[in-house]
Amino acid sequence: MQAVECFPLNNGMYIPACALGTWLAEPHLVGNAVKIALQNGYHAIDSAAAYENEQEVHDEGFKPIFEQGKLLREEVFITSKLWINSKEKSCVRKACEDTLSKLGCKYLDLYLIHWPVSLRQKNNWPPQAEDFINVPIQETWAEMEKLVEDGLVKSIGVSNFTIAQLKELLAICKIKPVINQCELHVFNQQPKLCKFCADNHIHVTAYSPLGNNGNPDRRTDIPNLLEYQPIVDIAKKYNKTAAQICLRFLIQEGHSVLPKSTKEERIKSNFDIFDFKISEEDMQALRGMDKKYRTCQALCFFNGKS
Ligand code: A2P
Repeated sequence: MQAVECFPLNNGMYIPACALGTWLAEPHLVGNAVKIALQNGYHAIDSAAAYENEQEVHDEGFKPIFEQGKLLREEVFITSKLWINSKEKSCVRKACEDTLSKLGCKYLDLYLIHWPVSLRQKNNWPPQAEDFINVPIQETWAEMEKLVEDGLVKSIGVSNFTIAQLKELLAICKIKPVINQCELHVFNQQPKLCKFCADNHIHVTAYSPLGNNGNPDRRTDIPNLLEYQPIVDIAKKYNKTAAQICLRFLIQEGHSVLPKSTKEERIKSNFDIFDFKISEEDMQALRGMDKKYRTCQALCFFNGKS
């Protein structure tokens, strides 16, 4: 992992600054995208049980790369996430084992609680009010800690947690969460949450760092980040694309990024972000473009339960 730019975690491990995101990656394309990424400098892949593509990520991505010796398993940082219908004590290990089996891994580098809400194991989709249950964070986190103790995962963390939810977790944990993975991009910078995480040595990883334009459920009233003229203008100055500026901005702010693409050229160019630095003046300009635009509507979808 030495050759790859990384961020330190609070347990002594490191996370690569740029991973391929696989949320909403099209079936029959996602596995190949993982393979392309790993052949072109990426050392990290972000997955989740809820993306329902972990088997293909393994079959078309990890398997050929590891079998052909292009990379060793230890050279790739693999993240997955516990889905919200598996947060009860009796479900956590089984869910993790299922993910490990699909990804063909003996261990995960990072396992995250995907959302702070919980559903019954057998739920309607989309969930109805009666599908939501109250699973105390202590119950789920104790099981997550056992996964570390038993060697199934190296690090544990959370995703989509608010400051209040992190405080609750910090008050009861034996093993501190290493990461809070959140929607973070130029239009949604979440400075208070990021400061709280920094103060508590919790690394923040940015999902949807490009503004999540491909999501059919994305809010339609939010402009396309990659076509936003002030960002396009900054990109021209550096002879880079708007996407590269968006990613580089987040990395300079201290966040690892998870750009999703299944297109070879974009996968490559999204990783071509380590040979330049955005000036402090332009960083300030980009900070000033925050619009508190959260594109992910899952919170409304979850009936505002979070
Ligand atoms: P595609 O997979 O067809 O390349 P995010 O990571 O913020 O969720 O954004 C992902 C969306 O942005 C997807 O629709 C993806 O489409 C698109 N995308 C990824 N990389 C680029 C890029 N370099 N330029 C333009 N669009 C991109």
